[in-house]
Amino acid sequence: MKKSDTPDSGFTLTDNQTGKTWKFPGHTGAMGNRLVDIRPMYSTSGLLTYDPGFTSTAACKSDITYIDGEKGILLHRGYPIEDLAEHSDYMDVCYLLLYGELPTPEQKASFDTEIRYHTWLHEQLARFYQGFMRSAHPMAIMVGVVGALSAFYHDSTDISDPEQRQLAAHRIIAKMPNIGASAFKYSLGRPFPIPINKYTYAENLLQMMFSNPSEEYKINPVLAKAIDRLLILHADHEQNASTSTVRLAGSSGANPYACIASGIASLWGPAHGGANEAVLNMLDEIGTVKNIKKYIAKAHDKDDSFRLMGFGHRVYKNYDPRAKVMQKSCHEVLTTLGIDDPRLELAMRLEEIALSDDYFLEKKLFPNVDFYSGIVMKALGFPESMFTVMFAIGRTVGWIAHWREMLGDGDQKIGRPRQMYTGYKKRKYKPVSNRGHTQNKISWSWLWRGKKNGTTASEG
Ligand code: CMC
Repeated sequence: MKKSDTPDSGFTLTDNQTGKTWKFPGHTGAMGNRLVDIRPMYSTSGLLTYDPGFTSTAACKSDITYIDGEKGILLHRGYPIEDLAEHSDYMDVCYLLLYGELPTPEQKASFDTEIRYHTWLHEQLARFYQGFMRSAHPMAIMVGVVGALSAFYHDSTDISDPEQRQLAAHRIIAKMPNIGASAFKYSLGRPFPIPINKYTYAENLLQMMFSNPSEEYKINPVLAKAIDRLLILHADHEQNASTSTVRLAGSSGANPYACIASGIASLWGPAHGGANEAVLNMLDEIGTVKNIKKYIAKAHDKDDSFRLMGFGHRVYKNYDPRAKVMQKSCHEVLTTLGIDDPRLELAMRLEEIALSDDYFLEKKLFPNVDFYSGIVMKALGFPESMFTVMFAIGRTVGWIAHWREMLGDGDQKIGRPRQMYTGYKKRKYKPVSNRGHTQNKISWSWLWRGKKNGTTASEG
């Protein structure tokens, strides 16, 4: 049964400097976790909270996904990810995330048809690709092309119209495989792909990536299944960096295409969706089992910015349940294809060593979804640069589900965090002639500092 949140007896905050107290409402979420409702805090006390990276802040209510990071549980609309990955297909999961329930056969057939008939790209969009260097990273192309959809589909940018919102949602989900495959084909200098309506979403993605117009393409059902599962495992993950970016962009009333482009930009970073590409690069750098110790020592070293990519998570302090399914899928794909990739052996040894290492145990760092997904995608034939594109294609439905949910939430406001100001107090302006000749010291603190200087990355 679905449960909403329940107001509870709340909390009292005491200022230890003045002894003043304030009462704040409390809520108990559907799974029993308690929250302090600090919305009245600034207006009643003049106090702000400080929480970089939102480590203790729930920025919204959501019915879509639940994660218990301590126990390693992930539920979409109440259904465990393991069950969805085993028994559903990606269209089932898309429908579930968007509309709240698994579809009936009729609902599924109609949704499936709707998605199949929105897969084409506007002819002029093909010319848009030609403005990019052939060497461009496909994620750079994705950010540009998805943002540009708002210049092509004016009939679905009015967010106050539910029908337009629905049309935009279906359109983006339908076109993402074509946009991604076109970026890939463009980088190779090959003709743009053509979606074929008889194929399922995963089959179409496969044929658009790997077929060529001069030859018949035979779908390998094992590869299509592996892609479908990969898309399911990436479909949603509550308020991660890219989903929060989509919500923040959407909170100002921006159109859905622009919002999804902002999500793609956020996903690209190596601490988030870019980690799958980084894992493979890392395995190649480690090279052999003999070198694992050296790299584990680098990960321990506070003065070394090296991190074990594909390990650790802001929310999971246990095995990421998606990583378990991905590991199984990895074995299946490699066995079926008869591929003997030494990186799988290396990854498994690395995992084994890290999972018995005090540093990783103390910090509760476990493999995440990206640890095995790169090996699966490599086996399926994707180049490293396409890994994050595949993540983006799968995650699109999650972004849209959250964007739609946000627009329907009565508590929704434009996202506008505050800050702890640490700069100068008011000072007297100096005209250029009075500024002296010694160089001012410029602060470079805005640069990514990594682990070395104590700055941490955001969660994926
Ligand atoms: N290797 C070595 N040390 C690590 C790692 C790692 N992969 N991850 C975290 N730590 C250490 C970190 O140095 C810090 O140590 P200390 O407390 O001594 O300063 C401690 O563990 C906590 O880390 P944090 O960076 O404060 O934690 P976070 O919640 O901000 O970061 C994370 C989460 C995923 C960004 C981080 O674990 C990481 O960078 N992992 C590698 C990148 C990766 O695999 N990303 C994919 C995320 S899951 C896929 C997705 O959904 O996008």
